[in-house]
Amino acid sequence: MLLTVALANLLVICSSELSDYPIPKDFMLGVATAAYQIEGAWNEDGKGESVWDWYSHTFPERIDNAATGDVACDSYHKWEEDVALLKELGVDHYRFSLSWSRILPEGTINYVNEAGIEYYRKLLQGLADNNITPLVTLFHWDTPRPLHELGGWTNPLIADYFAEYARLCFERFGDLVQNWITINEPQTTCVQGYTEGIKAPGYSDEAEGVYLCAYTHVLAHAKAYHIYDEEFRAMQKGRITIVVDSMWCEPASDSSEDKEAAETEMEFIIGLYANPIYNGNWPQVVIDRVGNRSLLEGYPRSRLPEFTKDEIDYINGTFDFFALNSYSTNYIYHQIDVTESIGNGSYLLDSGIGAKVNSTWKSIEGIGWVNDVPWGFRKLLNWVHNHYNKPDIIITENGWADLTGDLQDQDRIDYVAGHISAILDAINEDGVRVFGYTVWSFMDNFEWTNGYNEKLGLYQVDFDSPDRTRTAKDSAKWYQKIIKDRCLVDKCQDASL
Ligand SMILES: *[C@@H]1O[C@H](CO)[C@@H](O)[C@H](O)[C@H]1NC(C)=O
Ligand SMILES: *[C@@H]1O[C@H](CO)[C@@H](O)[C@H](O)[C@H]1NC(C)=O
Ligand SMILES: *[C@@H]1O[C@H](CO)[C@@H](O)[C@H](O)[C@H]1NC(C)=O
Ligand SMILES: *[C@@H]1O[C@H](CO)[C@@H](O)[C@H](O)[C@H]1NC(C)=O
Repeated sequence: MLLTVALANLLVICSSELSDYPIPKDFMLGVATAAYQIEGAWNEDGKGESVWDWYSHTFPERIDNAATGDVACDSYHKWEEDVALLKELGVDHYRFSLSWSRILPEGTINYVNEAGIEYYRKLLQGLADNNITPLVTLFHWDTPRPLHELGGWTNPLIADYFAEYARLCFERFGDLVQNWITINEPQTTCVQGYTEGIKAPGYSDEAEGVYLCAYTHVLAHAKAYHIYDEEFRAMQKGRITIVVDSMWCEPASDSSEDKEAAETEMEFIIGLYANPIYNGNWPQVVIDRVGNRSLLEGYPRSRLPEFTKDEIDYINGTFDFFALNSYSTNYIYHQIDVTESIGNGSYLLDSGIGAKVNSTWKSIEGIGWVNDVPWGFRKLLNWVHNHYNKPDIIITENGWADLTGDLQDQDRIDYVAGHISAILDAINEDGVRVFGYTVWSFMDNFEWTNGYNEKLGLYQVDFDSPDRTRTAKDSAKWYQKIIKDRCLVDKCQDASL
């Protein structure tokens, strides 16, 4: 009986459901992490306090088991072992983030913490020595606390502080970095951090939070892009963009109302951040809906800040490629008309949609944000291709979450295989230009408000051991083989076909 089950599992993996297109030789396969989630050493060697240090220490009740990133995976001390594991995996690239407060303890450029610079230079040199391409995120949610206290991402002046920090990073690391990400997933920060209040800084400003936050993020990104473009690109010859995140929004029915609702939700989730950068200005449907509702709610103008013509032009085109994170699909249906449920202003009502998942989709009970729906992912890739003028796309995050952290993680293998397979189909059959894929995550780590409960790593980390011992899961061994073989099935089509 057991044997039959094991065989059945094996058959699923070998089945023809996976694409037999070869993974192109120059297609980048990598893994990702972020500073606060792995580094630890939260107050060592001159590091300043970030908003996540403050949040996890001040509101332990808001995080599972009152966990913090104080030690996390201890990568600040164990970076050499991390590089060795990356080498063992054989990845083409490693995406990680710089801790702004480790480099600028006050967030401002007047005082640079040289120990922080040195840490990242050692890590970058280690990657270079092993032929691993770094993909470096300047900001992955850990705002320096002093800047948070000035209003954080609701204060548009923070964009200038970010730009100065970005310039310093280009100056001090640019000789070792050709691939830059300015900001990670502004949608998640703006919705969960400034409207729902479920991630740092924990604000629940439903009316304006998201829109002020989106405005500042997009502006900050554009400033950093222009600095790179004008002052560094000629010499460093790198490329730079922002990471946006989105689930795929599938219409819940064939009705035109539901189709429109799904399209509208895409613009609220991904368009709010990507459209100003890839097409110019906010998405029209967001301008119209928030504008109309704001007037009905008694505001003199839209809760969504209006860009000046100069700002539209300044932000438009500030990308060298498209970086996308995605974990899931939702069915989207029409819920309210633009004139309905008028109250005090609510981002959550502005789009007028409802969302649900299909119980047949594989997911782990209690983890709502990860559903294994590769066909939705393929549709998302096509949507990005069609809406943003066929950009070169890299998937900067995608992965499977479980609650056990088991070394036998067949579900993770199935999920990653299915999503790479969807990419291969999108490239070969839909003409979508995808040049890389990044598993979230390299290793189990501090999963924000879920603490250490949700595990997404290819490597298990023993958080009970002071040594934070890393152990390869089955998925790490599988990924290592895929990177080497460049093929998801027993035998791929001839690469030359
Ligand atoms: C953004 O730039 C593109 C390419 O130059 C241009 O076609 C488009 O009209 C611009 N968008 C806006 C809103 O100006
Ligand atoms: C309201 O929406 C319509 C399109 O449905 C648009 O033409 C109009 O400009 C919007 N009004 C405001 C104030 O945004
Ligand atoms: C709007 O806000 C006021 C003041 O907080 C509150 O008393 C009122 O109930 C709110 N109205 C709605 C519809 O939520
Ligand atoms: C869920 O998926 C199944 C299988 O694809 C489909 O038959 C069903 O209609 C879906 N349910 C909903 C609510 O969309």
